[in-house]
Amino acid sequence: MKRFEWDSTLETGDKSIDDQHHTLFTLGKEFNIAIMNGGNPTISMKLIQDLANYAVTHFNSEEGWMRKAGYPELQGHAAMHEDLKRKLVNRIVAIKNGQLPMSADICIFLHDWITHHILEQDLRAIKWCKDHVENATSAA
Ligand SMILES: [Fe+2]
Repeated sequence: MKRFEWDSTLETGDKSIDDQHHTLFTLGKEFNIAIMNGGNPTISMKLIQDLANYAVTHFNSEEGWMRKAGYPELQGHAAMHEDLKRKLVNRIVAIKNGQLPMSADICIFLHDWITHHILEQDLRAIKWCKDHVENATSAA
């Protein structure tokens, strides 16, 4: 299975959010390649940390826009972002402590979480913001 391959069904219609999602996919792909190549654990750890850091930046930006637009389901949406951050940090700590191997399972988890979140949550949320706020754009 191809992980972190972008396709047009993931596009939200907001250029700035789509660019950020693209960056998440690029980081995910690099991490996937490192894991599949049986990569150096130091490099894999750096890549997963880069992805985790970027996810936080992206979530803050997305939530800021939804807040500004008055998105009524922001609280639930932000709780999902928190859920990923917690799960990812827990995995990173467990790997560092030697309790969890650096394996493809982490990449599968990340790919599935991010893809489902975009398709099931972000598309709906961004459509709401576009429908309810004139000239809505996350870049404004
Ligand atoms: Fe989101």
